[in-house]
Amino acid sequence: MAFEIGHMYIRLKLFFKRLFYQRPVIWPILEFLQGLKYAVNYYYYYGLLDGKKGLSVREVNIEFASQCNLRCKFCSLDHDKPKQVISDEILEKFLKGFVTNKRYSGIKRINLYNGGEILLHPKRMDMLRMIKKYKDLARSKNLAFPEVHMLTNGMLLREKLAEEIIEIDAVDLLGVSFDGGTPEWFEEMRVNAKWPPFYENIKGFDRIRKEKGSAVKMCAISCIPSDKERSTEWMHPEFQEIYGLLDWYELRRFHNWAGEIEEIKIPEKKHKIGCTLLMEQMVLLPNGDITICCNDLNSKAVIGNITQTDFLDIYNGKTRREYLKLHLQGKKNEIEFCKGCETF
Ligand SMILES: C[S@@+](CC[C@H](N)C(=O)[O-])C[C@H]1O[C@@H](n2cnc3c(N)ncnc32)[C@H](O)[C@@H]1O
Ligand code: SF4
Ligand code: SF4
Repeated sequence: MAFEIGHMYIRLKLFFKRLFYQRPVIWPILEFLQGLKYAVNYYYYYGLLDGKKGLSVREVNIEFASQCNLRCKFCSLDHDKPKQVISDEILEKFLKGFVTNKRYSGIKRINLYNGGEILLHPKRMDMLRMIKKYKDLARSKNLAFPEVHMLTNGMLLREKLAEEIIEIDAVDLLGVSFDGGTPEWFEEMRVNAKWPPFYENIKGFDRIRKEKGSAVKMCAISCIPSDKERSTEWMHPEFQEIYGLLDWYELRRFHNWAGEIEEIKIPEKKHKIGCTLLMEQMVLLPNGDITICCNDLNSKAVIGNITQTDFLDIYNGKTRREYLKLHLQGKKNEIEFCKGCETF
């Protein structure tokens, strides 16, 4: 039930985004309301509760592996940085919070992605089993456990792996990323990817979930170049077929990863108050580092490490609170990592 409501909320958000995005009057009003929500959250969680009760964070992203098998032209992932995969100890340290501390019930979603490709983790299935263990444990104690959303580029998602993922039953929502609208553009943009195996993998996952009567949902994120309409009508029939299998999908424009990719030009926006991602998201990296949001694919905005500091203390730590305050004051430009971000 909670899962269905979560889906409806996401669909509604996407609907409004599509309807109002960059409309001269309505979009600024929505941004103003977002700013108002930010201020209310700020004074409630960090004023009244002093960061010591409740939780403003609604989603935590977990990066299983920092490396990637693709070289997408529009992605800011630095392929020369050291390759790391998350350990059982670090993942468990975080997951334990859901069965030991009621404050974690504020987290409604775990996103299994950030930079890198999750399926490159050599013990990916063990990691999913651990998530399932905590999911069951939380439920046996009548505690909430977040929806688990895994996002992959799909190239390694062959049948055997798809079967295992579905059988483990840790993942509630399987997301795939594909862009371009035609096989040629897909391969041009997602360098190293090939359309035929991707197409077969996604159809395979869908077929297996249906055969097994699994409740796992499927969704997609697709980047659409600015000269193309944000619809599937102009796309290749095989693209349309894949979208037809999914429970929902997001057709989005490229962003510039907080200014990391200069070639991507996006309209500069008048600065708004606050940032929903800073308020509502934290990201756990493979070595235990916590960074401020999913824009940081290369560990440039790390604010602590869970092997040394408790997750909730990083949440309420000096750096994060300072960033939250600067955003409230409309001074995001004073934060090195945020100053180039025009996206959120
Ligand atoms: C960084 S990837 C990590 C997960 C995985 N490797 C994948 O591609 O699905 C997360 C998401 O960001 C999207 N993405 C990458 N570059 C983008 C850009 N410049 N603008 C918008 N979305 C982008 C990807 O398509 C993907 O859906
Ligand atoms: S978008 Fe995903 S698949 Fe493409 S290079 Fe970035 S991390 Fe890898
Ligand atoms: S302004 Fe951009 S980079 Fe900074 S926290 Fe928000 S989304 Fe992340």
